Amino acid sequence: MCGIVGYIGHREAYPIIIKGLQRLEYRGYDSAGIALYDGTDINLAKTKGKVEDLKSLSETSISLNGSLGIGHTRWATHGVPNHVNSHPHYSNSGDLVIIHNGIIENYESIKKELTKRGYVFESDTDTEVLINLIEEVKKKEDVKLGKAVQIALNQVVGAYAIAVFDRQKPDEIVVAKLGSPLAIGIGDNEFFVASDASPFIEFTNNAVYLEDEEMAIIRLGKEIKLRKIQNDAIAYPMVQELQLNLEEIEKGGYDHFMLKEIYEQPRAIKDTFRGRLRVAEGMVKMAGVDQNIEKFMNAKRIIIVACGTSWHAGLVAEYIFENFARIPVEVEYASEFRYRNPVITRDDIIIAISQSGETADTLAAIKLAKERDAFVFGVCNVVGSTIAREAHAGAYTHAGPEIGVASTKAFTTQITVLTLLALKLAKQKGELSDSKFHELLTEMENIPAKVELALESNPLIEIIAEAYKDSNNCLYLGRGYNFPVALEGALKLKEISYIHAEGYPAAEMKHGPIALIDEQMPVIVIATNNGHYEKVVSNIQEIKSRNGRIIAVVTEGDQQVRELADHVVEVPDTIESLSPLLTTIPLQLLSYHIAVMRNCNVDQPRNLAKSVTVE
Ligand code: F6R
Repeated sequence: MCGIVGYIGHREAYPIIIKGLQRLEYRGYDSAGIALYDGTDINLAKTKGKVEDLKSLSETSISLNGSLGIGHTRWATHGVPNHVNSHPHYSNSGDLVIIHNGIIENYESIKKELTKRGYVFESDTDTEVLINLIEEVKKKEDVKLGKAVQIALNQVVGAYAIAVFDRQKPDEIVVAKLGSPLAIGIGDNEFFVASDASPFIEFTNNAVYLEDEEMAIIRLGKEIKLRKIQNDAIAYPMVQELQLNLEEIEKGGYDHFMLKEIYEQPRAIKDTFRGRLRVAEGMVKMAGVDQNIEKFMNAKRIIIVACGTSWHAGLVAEYIFENFARIPVEVEYASEFRYRNPVITRDDIIIAISQSGETADTLAAIKLAKERDAFVFGVCNVVGSTIAREAHAGAYTHAGPEIGVASTKAFTTQITVLTLLALKLAKQKGELSDSKFHELLTEMENIPAKVELALESNPLIEIIAEAYKDSNNCLYLGRGYNFPVALEGALKLKEISYIHAEGYPAAEMKHGPIALIDEQMPVIVIATNNGHYEKVVSNIQEIKSRNGRIIAVVTEGDQQVRELADHVVEVPDTIESLSPLLTTIPLQLLSYHIAVMRNCNVDQPRNLAKSVTVE
């Protein structure tokens, strides 16, 4: 996720773009850049860091004049966050300049082709490849910028919201969208382009939101021209009158970042799949694994190190790796692992999971493993983070920035990456038949739509939250793949609502926790139809006979549990190993609503920080 802003009109573009980028920083904040056309030339400044750093740099290094410009705040996907990889990017001639939010999946093959034709690339980004492809098309086909963008986009696979302008024709900006958001603000002979309406809301309430596969040529003195990218069909711009305030827009209309991030999960999981999950080709592509396939094939053991929610994702992965790839797995709290002189051999693979990529204990665990010659694979969200750099190889989750302190989309995207990895290894090791592999890949592809369906239980969960918001304690139970989900559900409730909660494997209940159960105790039980269903039903009966209050997460259509439980929340049916991606959704929503009802600071719970960079 990145934020993009553009302006063309009669005002100075610089302050509009800088302020707009600041408002879009929730979309990414590892680097930023701006390009302004001053009447004769383009002035470009970019830097690693926040928009504030860009502001200091631009105000001391470039001319800020001009009423045409574009700006970008980045959340890296290709290439670490640094000056060179920041946007905007020039084409080789220096005439065209682009900002891009998204991922071009086939950029490597296009880059090879362009390199053969003499193009040179400064950065590691897919975006620099795209702008040079546009330049090549423009020259070769002798077409205008709009047409060149259209032809080029028909050659790329991936997701994008882009804005491009040409120094030789500085009265227009060309924009296009597929998969990433793009809004055009329409003023009085002035236009704004942005990832959402926050950069232009104080100038105009009139906006056009591009649909996927649409592009627009925004020309001064003309009406916006909208067309389909795939063919020349003209689309008619639907101008909407916005009635939102700034805060609402930055949070996408949600009250809190946490809720926004919960709802982003279908998109985030798709972004994690993008380019990797190739159902039609019957393969999973992961560059960091392919380049080290021997290591993975010869691994005698996988040791997963992580903290908090990432550790829970590691526990889910343990079940998946052992079940499908038949590789023994140990899951360790990084903070314990680093201090207990663990046995590590050069045949071990260490998988370090960390959303932030900066967690001190996880980093220390990696260093220890490296000292003992183990191969370290990182699963991080923040591109270019310390853990991502320290690992020998890795895979990013591509969840986009997670602002709410409580991890939500980080958890599901970590499970997604780890599942892809496990299935890839299972296939390569001959542990999975072609048909089973195909079945699993196909079902993975269905997961974002099923998460969408799981989110529909939100109103029901709000009602349940109302009934339990004053509880002092809460028990979460699950088995197999859903035991770690129970742990994660309890952690979510604890950290944002300050209610004491415990997660347990359901069968462990009789070894102690059952003593806690009385009519005051809400027990959240994950009881989906596959994997130990009957045994979990027995656990539910045990709770019921002790007057515990039962909130059950079940597979849609379930009857048996419905008869026993006080409340039932359904999730769509899926393969057991993928069920954590669905069962975790109601638990995230439950803790969210309870915290809101208790007037807790949901996005910044007391005593907690988003990334724990100290011991
Ligand atoms: C819980 C939460 C924390 C983090 C933990 C690890 O919602 O956010 O438990 O999961 O601090 O952080 P990362 O994944 O950044 O290493």
